[in-house]
Amino acid sequence: MPAAADIERARERLAGVARVTPVYRSETISRLAGRDVHLKAENLQRTGSFKIRGAVNKLSTLGKAQRAAGVVAASAGNHAQAVAWAAREAGVGATIFVPQDAAMAKVEATKGYGAEVRMVGQGIEEALAEARKLSEETGAGFVHPFEDETVVAGQGTIGLELAEQVTAETVLVPIGGGGLAAGIGLALRASAPRTKVVGIRAARDAFALADGIAVKEPGELTGPLLEEVLDDVVEVSPDGIAQAIVLLLERTKLLVEGAGAVGIAALLAGKIAGDGPVAVVLSGGNIDASTLIEVVRYGVTTAGRHLVVRTSVPDRPGELLKLLQLVAEERVNVLSVEHRREGVDIPVGATGIDLTLLTRDEAHCEALLDQMRGWGYEVERLR
Ligand SMILES: Cc1ncc(COP(=O)(O)O)c(C=O)c1O
Repeated sequence: MPAAADIERARERLAGVARVTPVYRSETISRLAGRDVHLKAENLQRTGSFKIRGAVNKLSTLGKAQRAAGVVAASAGNHAQAVAWAAREAGVGATIFVPQDAAMAKVEATKGYGAEVRMVGQGIEEALAEARKLSEETGAGFVHPFEDETVVAGQGTIGLELAEQVTAETVLVPIGGGGLAAGIGLALRASAPRTKVVGIRAARDAFALADGIAVKEPGELTGPLLEEVLDDVVEVSPDGIAQAIVLLLERTKLLVEGAGAVGIAALLAGKIAGDGPVAVVLSGGNIDASTLIEVVRYGVTTAGRHLVVRTSVPDRPGELLKLLQLVAEERVNVLSVEHRREGVDIPVGATGIDLTLLTRDEAHCEALLDQMRGWGYEVERLR
């Protein structure tokens, strides 16, 4: 088990290499959660996630022969980027095995840091097996994403920073393989023993959105460590994660990937006990632009901010304009207007209209529907 001294040593090795990331208090999220909420912005870490802490620490312990043979790793994304970056900084070659369905932004960034990327198989297990094989064949240093005491100690440096940056009743940490939570838990046990540590998992149907923490189970090293250092483990849904990403973007201007936003999702779902200050580790910010578009659309819709309503107007020039003018007077944005003449139950002499409107929240949707009825339109809510 990594000792507090190992985490302290990791911190010395990381000085000037990894950023000491800032902690921000969010007024809006504190109000929503009914308690002080502080955000540890590891999404602003070099390479966009906390992973360089473990990777840099591990690389600094490799012997001459291993460094000459290079390093090898397997990852679906953030660890890949981190090892590639740490290897480049250390002047060591890196080969990274990546599952074929990994996020493209992460794969491109890994190549951009100069690593050789080999795409293999569908899941992380196959990539890990290939990486191990290459390490055995060539003597290259193998950097496991979490089953490694040196990697866990590196991730633990976040806990040391947190203990100095904020006094928290509870710290929320995402769990994939468990290296991050184990490291932070060990560090806090030594430096802030009264602080509770809660691990946050993504539900299985949220794996696509939270690819950083998908599929992985804690391992033989991290499993027992988590048992020891965590006070609780909770699970969050895809809706909650999408809403958390949108909230963080809108209100704190922080771009956070799904795996990094699970703490906020858990907090806002009322899953975290207590009422004292909470520190939430935003563990990464690497999200594909295409995923971000989907998430924003999904987050906005599930937050009740898209109202889709079906109505009909007399089939005469000016009637659609009249309806749109009434909507405009309510200062509501129209996202789309569709005419429906076929396949819907519309009386002769009328035209069906589907409107998608941008609203403030669920209460605003309801008020608007009442308003439209008041203007004399029959309305059916589609979403
Ligand atoms: C953004 C992000 N958060 C959290 C984690 C979970 O870290 P661990 O696998 O050490 O539990 C990962 C792992 O890849 C990640 O990429």
